[in-house]
Amino acid sequence: MKRINQLLRHPKFTETLKRLEFLEKDRIYCRHGLSHLLDVARIASLMQYQKKTPENDIDTELIYAAALLHDLGRVPQYEQGLPHETAGLPLAKELLSDCGFSKEEQSVVLDAVLFHRSTEEIDTCSKTADLRALLIAADKLSRNCFCCAASDTCYWPEKEKNRGIVF
Ligand SMILES: [Fe+2]
Ligand SMILES: [Fe+2]
Repeated sequence: MKRINQLLRHPKFTETLKRLEFLEKDRIYCRHGLSHLLDVARIASLMQYQKKTPENDIDTELIYAAALLHDLGRVPQYEQGLPHETAGLPLAKELLSDCGFSKEEQSVVLDAVLFHRSTEEIDTCSKTADLRALLIAADKLSRNCFCCAASDTCYWPEKEKNRGIVF
């Protein structure tokens, strides 16, 4: 996890998270700070561990990188009204490159960040599609709807809310 620990200490990562936590300090709905990012990383890792086969093995560092970077675009979203899945890509790319991820690894992680809000059916037959599907599922499962005080006015449809924990 050397590269992930490098990412966690990268000044641009820590500054962006600090800014994000400030921008969401009065938000009553789910927030997107470090605890959310780590919840997603750990849930995705557990899911991957459970269904792991030699064919679909995904490096844990790639799972953590995608999870830690997927919502950084919330800062430009709040400040400039941009969609966060695309607005966060330039910073995500810079951080991955600074932390030593290869071009191939960067493209797998950036794809997951870009499509983490996608609702399209995913045909998981590549590492890129597998990581994308994992991030989407873990992001949803990370939300504690069952004990959320703002659940009544949340935009999530009732049937999609988490009524308990799976991981
Ligand atoms: Fe998101
Ligand atoms: Fe998220």
